[in-house]
Amino acid sequence: MLNKIKKIISKKNKSKIICLTSYSKNFAEEIDKYADIILVGDSLGSVLYNYSTTRKVTLDNMIEHSKSVRMGIKKSLMTVDMPHQTYRNKKEALSNAKKIIRETSCEAVKLEGGTKIIKIIKHLISNKIPVMGHLGVLPQSIKGKFKSKGKTEKEKIQLLKEAKLLEAIGVFAIVLECVKASTSKLITSSLKIPTIGIGSSVYCDGQVLVTDDMLGLNNTNIRFVKKFADIKKVINQGVKKFKKEILSKKYPTKKYSY
Ligand code: KIV
Repeated sequence: MLNKIKKIISKKNKSKIICLTSYSKNFAEEIDKYADIILVGDSLGSVLYNYSTTRKVTLDNMIEHSKSVRMGIKKSLMTVDMPHQTYRNKKEALSNAKKIIRETSCEAVKLEGGTKIIKIIKHLISNKIPVMGHLGVLPQSIKGKFKSKGKTEKEKIQLLKEAKLLEAIGVFAIVLECVKASTSKLITSSLKIPTIGIGSSVYCDGQVLVTDDMLGLNNTNIRFVKKFADIKKVINQGVKKFKKEILSKKYPTKKYSY
């Protein structure tokens, strides 16, 4: 586990870090061939369960999906999001992080926030729980519309301060979500640990996207999502062909029957 983390940190300034989400074994198996980090994100709440916010995701949701993901991973670092209200104090955070690791065999957890939760993250790290940070837009804290971060001088200074604080207490990487390019550039160049951007420019050390979004499986018009494939098209082709062959009795032939 520590070797995987060291390897990820050593990529800084050498080679970009590839991170994608997965909520199940079959996706994880394919993503694992290309990724450095596979994140079981609490985005699964909106992507799979149609929740209006990730705040509704439970620890059980995360654990069940993570167990499935674990079966598909051979080499990537598996990180699991700690969902909303599972790290309100040190004791709760440690007990839930341990539960996630024990039940899913993941190698790290991710928590959203900086200064406000710094003591909690420090407590996890001092108890040997590897933590990935998350700054910028924090979906678990947002009730209304998402607004990008790091646009004003004040926000820029605050984000930089929080990133440095996270680094100082030992997080191994920080996700920067929807952070203005010049701010991500400053943060990235000020840290020894990698930044993983989502909508936060090319200056980050790595990039993460929600796999369902970038493969075109989940309809979204979020600005930073580029559609790298059209899985829906492939599903439609396959299902249409299945139906056609059943109706025409082309399937199942003897070969497919007992
Ligand atoms: O929940 C999630 O999938 C995430 C990533 C998009 C960074 O936190």
